[in-house]
Amino acid sequence: MPPRPRVFATRALPGEGLARLAERVDLDLWPGPGAPPPEALAERVADAEGLLCLLTDRIDAALLARAPRLRVVSSCSVGLDHVDLAAAARRGIAVGFTPGVLAETTADLAFGLLLAAARRIPEADRFVRAGLWTSERRWEPELLLGIDVHGATLGVVGLGAIGRAVARRASGFGMRVLGWSRSGRPFPGVEVVTLERLLETSRFVSIHLARTPETLGLLDARALARLPEGAVLVNASRGGIVDEDALAEALRSGRLFAAGLDVYAREPLPSTSPLLDLPNVVLTPHIGSASVATRIRMADLAVENLLAGLEGRPLPHRA
Ligand code: DGY
Repeated sequence: MPPRPRVFATRALPGEGLARLAERVDLDLWPGPGAPPPEALAERVADAEGLLCLLTDRIDAALLARAPRLRVVSSCSVGLDHVDLAAAARRGIAVGFTPGVLAETTADLAFGLLLAAARRIPEADRFVRAGLWTSERRWEPELLLGIDVHGATLGVVGLGAIGRAVARRASGFGMRVLGWSRSGRPFPGVEVVTLERLLETSRFVSIHLARTPETLGLLDARALARLPEGAVLVNASRGGIVDEDALAEALRSGRLFAAGLDVYAREPLPSTSPLLDLPNVVLTPHIGSASVATRIRMADLAVENLLAGLEGRPLPHRA
């Protein structure tokens, strides 16, 4: 029997996928806690034919050069901005990802951030826990007033699967939905407009873009200045697309009503971030796809991609 291919997996994953993988390959699983540091990753992948990684693992040209036997990189993520795809292609390494299984779950989180920011739900929660909800303040006409989501205009920046799933949710709230994508392709229920018009017309803006050289810094100070007074910005796609300092300033001055963020230019969010001092921003730690069912589906797909590549079959989802 030929030797089983050697695979390095950088993290345990939910579900049975890794157990199935271990039946077919010689699996080296990073014991954790957390991700392998870059040097450990390079050492463990040096003689591997397959790598199962996460979006937190940096798979760059230098790492790939240290892994001469590597044939497949399978990332348990839909985003691939952590993988140097050109370097992988040059080395004939197939790269797999997990599209199609996390759009609805991520759209749930984006819409949750939108609602939480508009209706100040985390602030209200902090108010109750801090013991501020006293009998004198049992019900106040102006306590924690937010803004209405229903009937408002939502601008969806990026009309891929997640952006479209957010647009569908918005129509259930009776929102008018504007959309912008580079392709300009029409979608039912979405008025496709220029990015400028979207920003100038939308009370709510939700970002759903991949991080690429073109999208980095797209929502800079100038773009944010186009948003109407009292607007709400949501980003559950990738950090770096929104200028966080400019956003913090717009939130601090009250020009923007609120924001909901799941992703940041630097993750974890540094303790020096100006966003941390602002009550009108809802911060979550990159949990867009974090439901049990979706994370299991992502893990299963990542394992399928890996096994296909190692067995010389086309990857079900190849970059
Ligand atoms: C991904 O898979 O790229 C997502 O950001 C995970 O939530």
